[in-house]
Amino acid sequence: MGNANFAREAEAAAEADSLAASHEWRAFAQAAHGAALDAGALKVIEAAGLCVDLTMQRQSPALDAAALALLRARGLDAARQALFSGGPVNWTEGKPAWHTALRAGRTREQPDGQDRDSVCEYSRMADFVRHVDQNADFATVLHIGIGGSDWGPRLAIQAFGGPGQRRQIRFVSNIDGHAFHDAVAGLDPRRCLVVVSSKSFTTAETLHNARAAIAWLRQGGVADPSAHLAAVTANAPAARALGVPASQVFRMCDWVGGRYSVWSVAGLSIALTVGTDVLIGMRAGAEAMDQHFQQAPLGANAPVQLALAGLVNCSVLGHGSLNIAAYSARLLHLVTYLQQLEMESLGKRVGGDGAAVDVPTAPIIWGMPGTDGQHTFFQWLHQSAHGAPVDFIASLQGHPDSPDAHRMLLANCLAQRQALLRGKDLEQALLDVAHVEDPEQALTLAHHMVHPGGRPSTLIVLRQLEPRALGALLALYEHKVFVQSVVWGVNPFDQWGVELGKRLATGIERELAVPVSAGVVDWGHDASTSYWIDRYRGHAQAPQPRHAWLPGVAAHL
Ligand code: F6P
Repeated sequence: MGNANFAREAEAAAEADSLAASHEWRAFAQAAHGAALDAGALKVIEAAGLCVDLTMQRQSPALDAAALALLRARGLDAARQALFSGGPVNWTEGKPAWHTALRAGRTREQPDGQDRDSVCEYSRMADFVRHVDQNADFATVLHIGIGGSDWGPRLAIQAFGGPGQRRQIRFVSNIDGHAFHDAVAGLDPRRCLVVVSSKSFTTAETLHNARAAIAWLRQGGVADPSAHLAAVTANAPAARALGVPASQVFRMCDWVGGRYSVWSVAGLSIALTVGTDVLIGMRAGAEAMDQHFQQAPLGANAPVQLALAGLVNCSVLGHGSLNIAAYSARLLHLVTYLQQLEMESLGKRVGGDGAAVDVPTAPIIWGMPGTDGQHTFFQWLHQSAHGAPVDFIASLQGHPDSPDAHRMLLANCLAQRQALLRGKDLEQALLDVAHVEDPEQALTLAHHMVHPGGRPSTLIVLRQLEPRALGALLALYEHKVFVQSVVWGVNPFDQWGVELGKRLATGIERELAVPVSAGVVDWGHDASTSYWIDRYRGHAQAPQPRHAWLPGVAAHL
């Protein structure tokens, strides 16, 4: 009897915590199943200069109503309020995630009552950039950082740089000698400024590469490497310990998560390469999206509606991935940027109470710029048994000297969406094989040409790719991620999942260096890890000719 009571109570408690069992979720899921994909009603939301076209997502008045009830029940209003007011929304670390404060207007007070500029050091950074420009000492920048300390600068510089940019930049993020040597190849150390970007200044890859850069400066005849170093960090003492002069250390705030760094002085390399105006524009666009997210009614709120479309596709219909197809060669790094934003934020399986979230969460984010993707994996999008929802991103204005190319680019984008939605049925496919004489053969062939259709997509349109639009686009995705985290009940601002691997790597690295002469060692690992530790030691510690496949070496082999 006691056990039965306990079981009933446990079941009731589990149901109380269960998202799947909640009345609001069930109503939402039911309405999503009943909603039409090709309902014909145009659904375009204008937000911060972007147009978000959700017409090709499931729609119905019942779904709209159920979605609003779900958002209310999951506490979106209070969560949003906490986000914007610097509340401890990163609850596992007891911290705010106040990236929105970095782009809020100049008048907005910062956490300690100071104005934004003095806290975020934007003016100090701009002065430094001006100084570097005036002195013309540095012809190139070597940017060292990884994850959030890397993707933002890469994305923005690819988007707004080019032959006319102020100075060339090379990036090194990976802890791979090839990456480092490739990055510095051909650079003159005497004319190079090394920017080390790391919020924690404890990231192994970044510190290793920074030390390698200092050695490279010295070997290249730079008597005082510290004059060639700048750092962006929340850990100034560590940067100082590396030798960066205090006047060239720029502060990141602890209340901003690493993957939101692009809004901080981590934009230093952007400013040095494509100008401070790019950063100002990006922040203005992001701020406009922040305002839209706070003020627009939920039914016409772009991040909220984008989030809901994702919830339907992932958590109700079971799509395990989301493809991002940016029809812009300059948005080459958008997918990787969004992979970190979405997957480091949402790749969690437990909610606030530590219990497993009981609906599917966090789709894989993948993709590449269109039209390259069309020649790579669009076959799979159109005809595989799975398919995936797609976010298409395009701009109305392309390169002014190539209007024809831009018309073709846009036509491809619109055509792919339509093909995914409408598909091609057997009747249409049979028309394509009318030339095949044997009817049986024609029918077989026609089956191979059927596109099932019914595959959802969103289209996000920029007037043109300029800093404001990119800022608004990134903030759109940030807030979408936030809304989804609220519904799923996960903390989007921590990243515990990266810690275990890092810790194991430290131990294994030590083991890889143990001399072979130490004899047989029981490493206590699984069989495969132990085997490869021993095999590497045997390989690395035997005398080796310099036969790596290096540029310049290959010719002499
Ligand atoms: O991958 C984990 C992570 O902590 C990211 O969140 C962060 O962007 C990256 O490492 C780099 O961290 P840091 O800026 O502290 O070097």
